[in-house]
Amino acid sequence: MSFAVATLVILTTGAAVYWYMNRHKPLKYILSELRYTLDMQGAGAGGLIDDWVNLRRNKIVLPAANRKIAVVTGGARGIGTEVIRGLLKANMTVIMGIRKPELVKTLSETMENGENLYAFQLDLQSLKSVKQFAQNVLKKYHEIHILVNNAGIMFGDYKLTEDGIETQLSVNHISHFYLTHLLLPALKTTGKVGEASRVVNVTSCAHYPGKIYFEDINMNEHYDTTAAYSQSKLAQLMTARYINKLLEEEGSPVKCYAVHPGIVNTDLFEKTLFRKFFPWVMRTFFKSPEKGAISILHACFNKDLENNGGLYISNCIEGISSRYSKNIEHQKKLFVISCDLIGIDSNVYGKSV
Ligand SMILES: NC(=O)c1ccc[n+]([C@@H]2O[C@H](COP(=O)([O-])OP(=O)(O)OC[C@H]3O[C@@H](n4cnc5c(N)ncnc54)[C@H](OP(=O)(O)O)[C@@H]3O)[C@@H](O)[C@H]2O)c1
Repeated sequence: MSFAVATLVILTTGAAVYWYMNRHKPLKYILSELRYTLDMQGAGAGGLIDDWVNLRRNKIVLPAANRKIAVVTGGARGIGTEVIRGLLKANMTVIMGIRKPELVKTLSETMENGENLYAFQLDLQSLKSVKQFAQNVLKKYHEIHILVNNAGIMFGDYKLTEDGIETQLSVNHISHFYLTHLLLPALKTTGKVGEASRVVNVTSCAHYPGKIYFEDINMNEHYDTTAAYSQSKLAQLMTARYINKLLEEEGSPVKCYAVHPGIVNTDLFEKTLFRKFFPWVMRTFFKSPEKGAISILHACFNKDLENNGGLYISNCIEGISSRYSKNIEHQKKLFVISCDLIGIDSNVYGKSV
């Protein structure tokens, strides 16, 4: 009883302080921000519990992939580095898309089979850079077996990219959506029936409280950085499902998956108060980047997933995803808006043009 009262007092006091600090904003925005803050804590706590409950499921035996080709965005740090380490260990050739390709030499020296690691410049805040990256990859490699859309950012102030897209939406969703479009023709010709090529979108349990702001996708009217992160991760999950459906309908040998890597101790949390005040909690209770990479590698390699395209994976099993993410009308609407933002007709998505 006293615990319930104490919790109620803390929550009420917190809400009152929050309202006072934001009293210049309309009440509906204050309430929406509060809801997102609380729901996000809930999603994070749920993610942590999921990681502990399914600890023993988060395992992988790497196959021998015999110099197949993987493209990974990001990877100079965080979970991406460990995904690349795993792909190289499985004897794949890996092409990284990173902002500082000169880092590839130092990185490759720390990895088994590091001589099979290459990098081209990629800045996901620029669609021009995405196009240039895809051209560089396709000039050198005609086959692509796996695309891992890993790079990401979380939170920050409101800013539009040079293409006029909200930054988190651009880095996490739209640029990956564009890259997938540009590489899909190669992924399609590489995949075979029974051995499909794979697109792996690294999303997050943070998608759960989210919705797509269809009428104001850049959130110009009112920017809540938490809602924007949630929207971008939800968009990645919905896109994996929708593109997988389109590919199945046209009979293409490419499968798409969405993966929540777990709650992982990385620089992603650099803009959070949590990292500032409780770094020891992150060190103690969060997954290591190596463990965070496992579900992503599972989505890249697991044979049983061949008949399970569009799956949302967490700790190497199907994760709990929001009802919103499964709504096919919402998925389609997002797909059309995303095509608009990259400047293509939705009928030509993923096709050679
Ligand atoms: N950590 C978690 O608990 C957690 C939970 C759920 C989902 N995720 C997802 O996991 C993925 C990897 O995150 P992480 O935890 O490894 O974070 P991280 O350590 O901060 O790494 C983020 C990576 O994204 C790259 N990146 C950021 N902005 C970029 C841009 N404009 N162009 C190209 N690359 C860019 C970074 O490259 P630079 O080195 O150049 O900055 C870095 O390699 C993200 O998609 C994230 O949303 C993480």
